[in-house]
Amino acid sequence: MANFDNLSRENFGSRIGVIAAAAGSAIGLGNIWRFPYVAGENGGGAFLLIYIGFIILIGAPVMLSEFVIGRKSQRNPVGAFRVLAPKTKWPLVGYIGIAAAFTILAFYTTVAGWTLEYLYLSIVNGFSGQNKSELQNLFGEFAASGYSPLIWQLVFMLLTALIVFKGVKDGIEKYTKILMPLLLIIIIGLCIRSLTLPGASEGLIFLFKPDFSKINGNVVLQALGQSFFSLSIGMGTLITYGSYISKKDNLGSTAVSVSIADTLIAILAGVAIFPAVFAFGIAPEAGPGLVFITLPMIFSQITGGQFFEIIFFILLVIAALTSTISVLEVVVAYLTEELNMSRKKATILASGSIAVLGLFCTLSMGPMPELSIAGMNLFDILEKTSANIFLPLGGLFIVLFVGWKLSKEQVIDEISNNNLLKVRFKYVFLFIVRFIAPIAISLVFLNGLGLFNAFGGGDL
Ligand code: PHE
Repeated sequence: MANFDNLSRENFGSRIGVIAAAAGSAIGLGNIWRFPYVAGENGGGAFLLIYIGFIILIGAPVMLSEFVIGRKSQRNPVGAFRVLAPKTKWPLVGYIGIAAAFTILAFYTTVAGWTLEYLYLSIVNGFSGQNKSELQNLFGEFAASGYSPLIWQLVFMLLTALIVFKGVKDGIEKYTKILMPLLLIIIIGLCIRSLTLPGASEGLIFLFKPDFSKINGNVVLQALGQSFFSLSIGMGTLITYGSYISKKDNLGSTAVSVSIADTLIAILAGVAIFPAVFAFGIAPEAGPGLVFITLPMIFSQITGGQFFEIIFFILLVIAALTSTISVLEVVVAYLTEELNMSRKKATILASGSIAVLGLFCTLSMGPMPELSIAGMNLFDILEKTSANIFLPLGGLFIVLFVGWKLSKEQVIDEISNNNLLKVRFKYVFLFIVRFIAPIAISLVFLNGLGLFNAFGGGDL
């Protein structure tokens, strides 16, 4: 009996740790900065509906597939495919992931740098008395200014590198377990304030009432990309974290819990932002600056708002950090395991080279307008290709691998911990990874890129 007690306590402890680490990766700027702005640009309600559909039908199964590959192989994304499918081309999928790590971190650290500036501004009370158009100018001028966004971006990259260097396996769970629930509480507070502003209901209608005439191939692709980006799937982050999950943990329920938590935070961020967007007369399609303009407006309407604003931006920075470390960890795990590099060397090499790409990304927002193609600057290009091309492409190969390359028995053994767990949905899962997910991703992809026309294609 004592033995059993010990075992269950240990399991419980590690289970929360795993969820915390994976949720730490999933919950980040993708939920609070990217979801509202992309939903705003793509018509609101209809986008949300498709987004949630993709999370359930494709996102959570891809997440579970990554856990299966990672825990089974005990490797980084390149090594995982190498040991599970020796002498094949499958490791190329791991390399897509490494490429995505570069493109994602380059633009993500730009935005994370903005959050550091906004934390600084909230501490020095830099928003005080500013109206909507002043806040719009503040954001626009700051993002385009070059020098200080660059410094903040480097500071953020350095913080990420320091944590990854120390090793992500011990540590992050401790922080995420306390800080993510705290972030949730502040967001709920923001929702309440936003919902009680005059004119708030229009924002709720925008977010929750689907206008199906707004749907086209591009909107569907954006929803797919956002669901992958927000769940941290499609590039091997969760293969890498999966390789750190204990053989006793329940992979399926972890994937479900993380997907629910991540989606909940994104929707709450929407409920905090859109009522205020309409109440203050901000354009929902304002783009990447949307939340940086709206949030200070909401805080200015709260008694003691500055205090909560500081706490909020601290938590947002930490949420961003727990995401960036999970991306950098992919590259570092690859370099240490596949190329036998020391952790120190790998971290310096990976973060240094990504920082260079990141700098150009930040400069493309203003000082170097020549870094753009067809009206999209480097920031937009990296952001859109990461979410809408690299991640779905990686996800497609991941489900094909689990559905068709691994045997049915191998997959069931892994998700049921060698039949110790009773997994009720195992056949549904297999059906999704074999048929539904690959077909759906391919169709959305081809259609969104305008290569095949079901509901009107479009560009990125
Ligand atoms: N999911 C993270 C966020 O929402 C971003 C991310 C994408 C992290 C892909 C890892 C891999 O902020």
